[in-house]
Amino acid sequence: MLEIIDKKVIESPIVKGMIEATDNMWRMGWDERNGGNISYLLMEDEIIPYIDTTRVLRTLKLNFPVPELAGKYFLVTGSGKYFKNVKNNPSDCLGIIQVSDCGSDIDILWGLENDGQPTSELPSHFMSHIARLEVDPNHRVIMHNHATNLLAMTFTHELDENEFTRTLWQMCTECVVVFPHGVGILPWMIPGTDAIGKKTAEKMKEFELVVWPHHGVFGAGATIDETFGLIETAEKAAQIYTIINSHQGGVMQVITDAELLELAKAFGVTPKSGVLKAN
Ligand code: 13P
Ligand code: ZN
Repeated sequence: MLEIIDKKVIESPIVKGMIEATDNMWRMGWDERNGGNISYLLMEDEIIPYIDTTRVLRTLKLNFPVPELAGKYFLVTGSGKYFKNVKNNPSDCLGIIQVSDCGSDIDILWGLENDGQPTSELPSHFMSHIARLEVDPNHRVIMHNHATNLLAMTFTHELDENEFTRTLWQMCTECVVVFPHGVGILPWMIPGTDAIGKKTAEKMKEFELVVWPHHGVFGAGATIDETFGLIETAEKAAQIYTIINSHQGGVMQVITDAELLELAKAFGVTPKSGVLKAN
């Protein structure tokens, strides 16, 4: 019986999407070892055909109650799980969880076999979901990874949010269109804590992208594809930044602020104010 349920869940579009995302992220080099985690807010109709939501496998206590998420279902990656291995062992590496009615526990409904735990970054994920849902009713996905060039850039670029954002926008023409709100940046903090969760969520009220210096990045979006694409675009810009800064001839020309403003106007987006000098 359990095997039939597992097979059904593994073949569901939501789990297939998660397998594809974790595999792509690993192949991008963003998720070495167990680096990175994803949580996906599930609608009831996405899981009802696949699992019996009354069958609770285990209940875990949260140190950080989230009454705002009471009753909500999430597909999450497991703590310590290698993204490289998700496709071969989804029911060990992933889990479907439901937040209890009071918001202080989670019920595991599927996966996280062998006594697995949801990602250690669950405080940042849950608090960010709360923050994003307040500003974006279509919000569904929080994605964290160790995107190589964004991480590198936190060593070589000043960590002022406006300056960091401006540099990224300058690197590829489409950046300002893909993330017009720019990039939020935290101070260096200990990962996996409620404290970094609170700070990340504060930034998530304003930004879809939050950089953790010398660690990685958090992205938010309506779909896995959109969130992956958001991180991919910022990461590409950071890669260009690193390439041109190691070039002996240095930078010879840039997209000017006036051109970026013209571009934003042409694409109907409003760039975060205070970033572009002519703004
Ligand atoms: P988890 O394996 O607990 O998800 O942690 C990975 C990580 O990237 C921590 O920041
Ligand atoms: Zn991490």
